[in-house]
Amino acid sequence: MWSRALRNNLKLNQIRGASTIVKGEPEAPVVKTDIPGPKSKQLLQELGSLQQAGTVQMFVNYDKSIGNYLVDADDNILLDTYTQISSLPLGYNHPELLKVFNDQHNMKCLINRPALGVFPGDDWPKRLNGILSEISPKLPNITTMMCGSCSNENAFKNIFITYQRKKRGENVEFTAEEKSSCVVNQPPGAPKLSIMSFKNAFHGRTLGSLSTTHSKYIHKIDIPSFDWPIATFPQYKYPLEENQRENEEQDKKCLAEVEELFEKYEKKGIPVAGIIVEPIQSEGGDNEASPQFFQQLQKIAKKNNAYLLIDEVQTGGGCTGKFWCHEHFNLETPPDIVTFSKKMQMGGYFHTAEMTPKQPSRVFNTWMGDPGKLIILETVIKVIKEQKLLENVLHTGTMLKIGLLELEKEFCYYVNSTRGRGTFLAINATDSNLRDEILTKLKAKGIQSGGCGTKSVRLRPALIFQEHHANIFLDKFRQVLKEIK
Ligand SMILES: Cc1ncc(COP(=O)(O)O)c(C=O)c1O
Repeated sequence: MWSRALRNNLKLNQIRGASTIVKGEPEAPVVKTDIPGPKSKQLLQELGSLQQAGTVQMFVNYDKSIGNYLVDADDNILLDTYTQISSLPLGYNHPELLKVFNDQHNMKCLINRPALGVFPGDDWPKRLNGILSEISPKLPNITTMMCGSCSNENAFKNIFITYQRKKRGENVEFTAEEKSSCVVNQPPGAPKLSIMSFKNAFHGRTLGSLSTTHSKYIHKIDIPSFDWPIATFPQYKYPLEENQRENEEQDKKCLAEVEELFEKYEKKGIPVAGIIVEPIQSEGGDNEASPQFFQQLQKIAKKNNAYLLIDEVQTGGGCTGKFWCHEHFNLETPPDIVTFSKKMQMGGYFHTAEMTPKQPSRVFNTWMGDPGKLIILETVIKVIKEQKLLENVLHTGTMLKIGLLELEKEFCYYVNSTRGRGTFLAINATDSNLRDEILTKLKAKGIQSGGCGTKSVRLRPALIFQEHHANIFLDKFRQVLKEIK
């Protein structure tokens, strides 16, 4: 049975016909060879002789790819529901983006890449102000970075710097001992502090962010990690409406553990300065938690004088139907930091004024972002607004969710636990072998999709994914499940 909320949502969003947003898209996938095909295999051999290329699935023809369709080196045309690991907001070769660098000023910003922390272009403050006023989740400041991992990594530094400044007292100078001890990694200058994270979280692979990543051993093995607390993230049962009591118990148990870990790490002498959390744990299996969970988590952080960092690297940019997923949670105040990357094209974070270091050079690197990417982001935001793409996401997402729930009913021995917001959706297979088989079979039918966690299929289409694309995906998914049956 579809839930009442889904039906109402559908009625509210009867807004789009079947006409495609990006002109010139193919009407359906076309598979001509095995994937990877002979050309991709040959290129893989070439690349493999230069580097470890074991993660490469296929080579792509970026000239021919268009809209929601990726064209590979062997001319296979795939409907892309995974979009470069969830990072293409407008699909391939969107006409508005193709025009961006015809503008000579924009082109000069692209080729004269500045060291933004030292020699920003004379339009940089205006451009940042534009981004803040268009899409900031009610936070007044922005720091730009290169990628998701380094955004989290540098955001941790802002948290530690602010935590220590508060402890030391505003405007109190660093002591001589602090200055000399920090350069040899010793307290008091290099204090013992921690960031709390959650089991199954993914926050990146650089050294600091990796200490808060807990999704797969292959990301972490052989790499030293900080002794930082790791709390349990809720694991809900589906459908949510039928498991409310149990899921609420999950929230309570996990929040109690968060409180215990604050105490435990205070006693250990490694106090918790901040908490990092994804609004929906993505790489770790599309695990959701309720708005109430996040509201309570924020309260606990505040009570313990710790800061809340919401990692919107994967969930941000409109794919949940709101620009930021945490906007679904109705938090008392905005989080202290919200990190972004992927669909935003550039890494970085929005933050409170309190998080801004008082001294220069404390959070810094050569490029600190890329004006060329910010120029692309400006056009992405314009297109999202003009073409009402968040409404499109809600409409398509509702259709997709209804379709997945129907498949669950029909193939209950194979798939279950449909979940998510907007088009940021997932469904579980009964085990990881079956999940992998589903992904392989979908690809053979011209659907590029992705997995997450141990047994989930995740959907991460572009914001231009429409009802007719959803129907193709659902139809192929059904064929795959039938073949298994
Ligand atoms: C939630 C989240 N945080 C951080 C990252 C790391 O981003 P990047 O791969 O750009 O370093 C990812 C990447 O998948 C992510 O999903």
